[in-house]
Amino acid sequence: MPCHLVTGGSGFIGSCYVLEARRRGVRVVNLDRLTYAGNPANLAPLQGDSGYTFVRGDIGNAELVNWLLQSHQPDAIVNFAAESHVDRSIVDPEAFVRTNVLGTATLLRVVAQWWGALPAEQAQAFRFLHVSTDEVYGSLQPGDPAFTETTPYSPNSPYSASKAASDHLVRAFHETYGLPVLLTNCSNNYGPRQFPEKLIPLMICNALDRKPLPVYGKGANIRDWLHVEDHCAAIARVLEAGNVGRCYNIGGHAEKTNLEVVQAVCGILDNLAPSVAGPYAGLVSFVADRPGHDFRYAIDSTRIETELGWKPAHNFESGLQDTVRWYLENTAWTENVRSGAYREWIAVNYAQRGPGGGN
Ligand code: NAD
Ligand code: TYD
Repeated sequence: MPCHLVTGGSGFIGSCYVLEARRRGVRVVNLDRLTYAGNPANLAPLQGDSGYTFVRGDIGNAELVNWLLQSHQPDAIVNFAAESHVDRSIVDPEAFVRTNVLGTATLLRVVAQWWGALPAEQAQAFRFLHVSTDEVYGSLQPGDPAFTETTPYSPNSPYSASKAASDHLVRAFHETYGLPVLLTNCSNNYGPRQFPEKLIPLMICNALDRKPLPVYGKGANIRDWLHVEDHCAAIARVLEAGNVGRCYNIGGHAEKTNLEVVQAVCGILDNLAPSVAGPYAGLVSFVADRPGHDFRYAIDSTRIETELGWKPAHNFESGLQDTVRWYLENTAWTENVRSGAYREWIAVNYAQRGPGGGN
């Protein structure tokens, strides 16, 4: 049975990947520091599963990583572990450098040392897949061609700069040490178990609490949305058939303005959980913009579609409907993650924003 060492497997995307890998019969070791974003409840279905091992720890802990490699001899590492929220990176950039840059550097060094001593056949079959983002390419204007794998990096936030640095390190470990790496750069994910600091779950939770729905600026910024299950299927496909040393862009063919996304969430809630206080869209509140806010991201995923035959299976409208339904049916999960620390973050991020440049 193949074994994957998954880092950050208790977060939003990592947990989806771990659950899917277990369904495919892959043995999984999950190394996760359990920051505010890591939630053991995401993997509750794996309780008592002998093919799943959880280890609480940091990707920057060389001794621990080395011990995990020696004792589990993974066939692949899938590196999800990261600080992932742009707004938090504006408040505390160094936390992003610590995990995304230094943590990834340590992980790569320890993995490269272990890998270099493997028997030839095992070394040849091994893969290190680094999960990255389209945000490393910077910002597009309407009408600009979508990002391809050869678009020059031009990160604008501390988050995207730290992810860009980690991507460069991964590439450098391939060139310098021959480590068999794969890189994926994906657009905005949505789906069940996303921490409610991100746009879609934040809007669902606030709407249900009849709190304002804080849209940055005019809500005109554009993101491409991909269902988390499609992202995880793409990662599995890249691991299976991707060319070593190659990058793959992953996108959902679903570019939307933020206001369109928020209005779509409101419309679904109006149907599934109508409020006597009136339509949820009445709660939309335009607030001060994010500094350095990238205007538009768009992905050209021709490479993964033509070379590896992957395509997204979900469409945004039904995927969003299912996502909203998941949050309505899992209010205990949401209550649990919206702890004191969450409320503190919401106060830090939104209290100072005040009214913005909207209508
Ligand atoms: P998340 O914030 O939900 O989860 C991150 C996980 O990593 C958490 O479980 C956290 O506890 C863990 N972690 C953080 N620092 C760690 C450390 N030092 N050592 C070990 N574990 C640590 O993030 P996500 O949305 O699931 O994103 C996963 C990956 O995908 C990230 O690398 C992110 O940059 C990338 N990505 C995310 C999106 C998106 O839309 N969410 C899009 C493209 C790429
Ligand atoms: P987010 O979910 O933080 O993802 P990212 O910044 O990585 O794209 O934000 C998605 C978009 O939604 C982004 O353009 C910022 C905007 N946004 C708001 O308008 N209001 C909010 O409260 C949040 C969290 C995001």
